[in-house]
Amino acid sequence: MDETTPAPAPSGDKARKRLFIKTYGCQMNVYDSDRMRDILHPLGYESSDTPDNADLVILNTCHIREKAAEKVYSELGRLKPLKEARAAAGGSMTVTVAGCVAQAEGAEIQRRAPVVDLVVGPQTYHKLPELIANVHRGRGEGLDTEFEVEDKFDSLAVPERQVDGYTAFVTVQEGCDKFCTFCVVPYTRGAEWSRPVDQVTAEVRQLAAKGVREITLLGQNVNAYHGAAPAADAAAGDVWGLGQLVRHLALIGGIERIRFTTSHPRDMDEDLIQAFADTPKLMPYFHLPVQSGSDKILKSMNRNHTAAEYLATIKRLREVRPDIAISGDFIVGFPGETEADFEATLDLVRQVNHAACFSFKYSRRPGTPGSAMFGQVDEAVKTERLARLQALLSEQQVAFNRSMIGKRLPVLFEREGRNAGQIAGRSPYLQSVHCDGPVSLIGEIAEVEILNASQNALGARLVPKETRAA
Ligand code: SAH
Ligand code: SF4
Ligand code: F3S
Repeated sequence: MDETTPAPAPSGDKARKRLFIKTYGCQMNVYDSDRMRDILHPLGYESSDTPDNADLVILNTCHIREKAAEKVYSELGRLKPLKEARAAAGGSMTVTVAGCVAQAEGAEIQRRAPVVDLVVGPQTYHKLPELIANVHRGRGEGLDTEFEVEDKFDSLAVPERQVDGYTAFVTVQEGCDKFCTFCVVPYTRGAEWSRPVDQVTAEVRQLAAKGVREITLLGQNVNAYHGAAPAADAAAGDVWGLGQLVRHLALIGGIERIRFTTSHPRDMDEDLIQAFADTPKLMPYFHLPVQSGSDKILKSMNRNHTAAEYLATIKRLREVRPDIAISGDFIVGFPGETEADFEATLDLVRQVNHAACFSFKYSRRPGTPGSAMFGQVDEAVKTERLARLQALLSEQQVAFNRSMIGKRLPVLFEREGRNAGQIAGRSPYLQSVHCDGPVSLIGEIAEVEILNASQNALGARLVPKETRAA
């Protein structure tokens, strides 16, 4: 899920500096990249969509699987000649590695890739202006990878957001204390921490005023959210859960759709389930990773719940919101996974009937308990299991998308489509929808009738206003 965030063309103004950010990994990184842009904008940095001739390049990195980390080093290799060319032309390029590889590897990165000027972890990027100034003054390496979670959120309490479109991410919770035995996140993102409700509300109000219609609340364990209650609402309790936060944000005018990701099965509570019933703005799509259907593997992964408990949660969600689309993440080939354990995963998938999922081969991460476990699974076995799982998940995704044919759905149009005269957006179930329509509908929610479906998108036609359901 690599992402190079699109950016406006650099301005011709000589005082302006070019900033190129490449974002890897999860949505938290996408959000953090935008915050880095916000912080650097007042210093004259304008986003560029290429590293060529950039004054500042930031790779916002992901450490979740081995391949993700290796991509960073390949990219650094490609930057070296660009940096040299810039120096030869009398300019300079500051190369920064941010994000989870920065946190995990720290100074090691500069040893392996001397092209790097600066390493900054996810908790300290608010110090970028100062660190960049240090590099510019040739004072020190600017290495800074300490954990200072509160410090970061204090200084970015309610960032001044530049808005690009009609949907936006809002980080509400950071970090993780769960220590799943396969995962690096607790080591790269630090302890769990929730932003106070008032800060989140102020940020969402700001986004709504700038035209945003849909927000996605982000957290590594977003349903573990436990933010300080609004100052004006002390009677409602000192700490709010995610269900309360969602209902509160649903009151903000202009915000029409709310989503959140990623949740953990063991942080599910009845209040959040009820929010799907009583808050129409909360979209009927739920990403709830289960990783495996085998209780033995779930235990060894330290997930702290069983397959039956997960299935009971899904059943409860469907009772309150029968149309809810369920998505998730799976890992195949975790140490000790036998064919029978893997079959249990397939069996769980058959019972849940997912709308869309991500699935991965287990990747050994240095420093995590899983990497030292006995019973590491052969790469060929992982590949074969992943193919079987993905075939089943694709089948379910296609069936889910086809079940929409003939239905009417509200779509938030976000952009022009691929073909001339087309516009594109998302259904409530997060499916991409394409149809012929005027660009004036971009930013609006309009009803469409679904005509056809593939694995990754739906084709539709606009329903004329006079025939729409009330
Ligand atoms: N906080 C979220 C997701 C974190 S990472 C959660 O708890 O679900 C996103 C996904 O990457 C995970 O759900 C998992 O499926 C996958 N993942 C994490 N570490 C992995 C590893 N070492 N090997 C393979 N997949 C991994
Ligand atoms: Fe990683 Fe587990 Fe935390 Fe998710 S809950 S971020 S998988 S340790
Ligand atoms: Fe990757 Fe860090 Fe996100 S490791 S998945 S960028 S929290």
